[in-house]
Amino acid sequence: MIRRRDLLLAMPAGLAASALPRDLALAQTVVPTPAAEPKLEPKLPAGFTLGASTSSYQIEGAVNEDGRGASIWDTFSHTPGRIKDGSNGDVACDHYHRFAEDVELMAQAGFGSYRFSVAWPRVQPDGAGAPNVPGLDFYDRLTDRLLARGVKPFACLYHWDLPQALQDKSGWTNRDIVGRFTDYAQLVATRLGDRVPRWAMLNEPSVHAIFGHAFGNHAPGMTGWKNYLAAQHHMNLAQGSAIRALRAAHPKLGLGTVFSLQPVLPATGKPEDAAAAVRFDAAWNGNNLDPLFHGRYPEISAADFAPFIREGDLDAIKVPVDFLGVNYYGRAHVVDDPNGVIAGAGWGPHPPGTRTTAMGWPIEPQGLVEVLARLRDDYGNPQTFITENGAAYDDPAPKGGTVDDPARTAFIRDHLLACQRAIADGCALKGYYVWSLLDNFEWAEGYSRRFGIIHVDFATLQRTPKASFAYLAAVASGAPTGTILTGP
Ligand code: FCB
Repeated sequence: MIRRRDLLLAMPAGLAASALPRDLALAQTVVPTPAAEPKLEPKLPAGFTLGASTSSYQIEGAVNEDGRGASIWDTFSHTPGRIKDGSNGDVACDHYHRFAEDVELMAQAGFGSYRFSVAWPRVQPDGAGAPNVPGLDFYDRLTDRLLARGVKPFACLYHWDLPQALQDKSGWTNRDIVGRFTDYAQLVATRLGDRVPRWAMLNEPSVHAIFGHAFGNHAPGMTGWKNYLAAQHHMNLAQGSAIRALRAAHPKLGLGTVFSLQPVLPATGKPEDAAAAVRFDAAWNGNNLDPLFHGRYPEISAADFAPFIREGDLDAIKVPVDFLGVNYYGRAHVVDDPNGVIAGAGWGPHPPGTRTTAMGWPIEPQGLVEVLARLRDDYGNPQTFITENGAAYDDPAPKGGTVDDPARTAFIRDHLLACQRAIADGCALKGYYVWSLLDNFEWAEGYSRRFGIIHVDFATLQRTPKASFAYLAAVASGAPTGTILTGP
């Protein structure tokens, strides 16, 4: 198993910080400077959805309530050494009990929609069989509350919290999971499909397959390229299978899935880095996009996947979607690296002068335009939502009922401006969900990274909306944002 420490040791000194995978970024990141874009008001078209995203394990807590089973993230976070600050999601934001307050805040922000995920182990504690009704009841209460406050629910069926019982049977590397996931999807849609109009099957299968199954720094902590290939292929199949099943049973639902997409660029002019970027791009982007939209794997990946592909699989994965969710955080600047986590490629230095967030991730709003242009040009311009975009910063403590977070506010503003440019370029972009509504459990980083537009005091669980919340509320209501955004 590769650990952060070993990775650092294996890296040339100058590369260390920027070469680290996203969630392995060190504390010693570049201090964010104010945004460089001019002060502009985003002008989003009528009908454009503004909302916020979260995921079940990162916010819910209540891990032993109402019959919930264990998930792979419970197991992983309770394993010493796995989470940077030794924390876990046992309580998280206690959203399970405080959801009404959280919905109220979304209503105050004027959000049109909320993307949340359903925890599979609440619905099927053992990953199979009849539903655990009290678990489904929670999402029923949440849905009704959202609708009562005018916020459209957008459910994601899987944001990485697999029932541990299924992991005990090899999880996503076991092809049987395709049937299990399809059954689970049906259970949830049967209960909520009369009120939840939009459904994403999976969140970021590539990230889950790479970090959880090849690299091992995310649950379930499996390692090896073979496990990545199996997990990625079975997620592709599960996604296709569930979309077909839900479409047949609930023809009115909007069905899609969520990918993490990044433009991938060689970090230097070396030919081997250019080749590495092609491999990295396939793993990060193409191994999700090409099977779904074109019914094939990228040429460079085809031989790798061949042992896992059975007759009919590629036809089963290719399925029309009503929308694609895109999680966008930045570009990937890549180098050739024989020990690299992704097909012999790894993260290289960002271009000189690139500003970064507290995760060490590059701030590159134009990359969002590039990703959407690729969807327009190569994948038939599907109806798209930015289902995640946001930034971690080391915020100051709440003061006077708010938190001053100008860098995050500018980050959001600059990405909304990028959305505006993409729409002007003819991309079928219909909405933007900020990551995240709340500061929360940031996977292997624990509570050390704050992405929320609402501050959470993890000792008292008190919520305090940040200035970025006020900014988005102003954008949502069409009010001028100048008084909130005081940055350049
Ligand atoms: C995405 C994940 C989300 C959150 C953000 C920062 O990859 O989908 O849960 O961790 O990154």
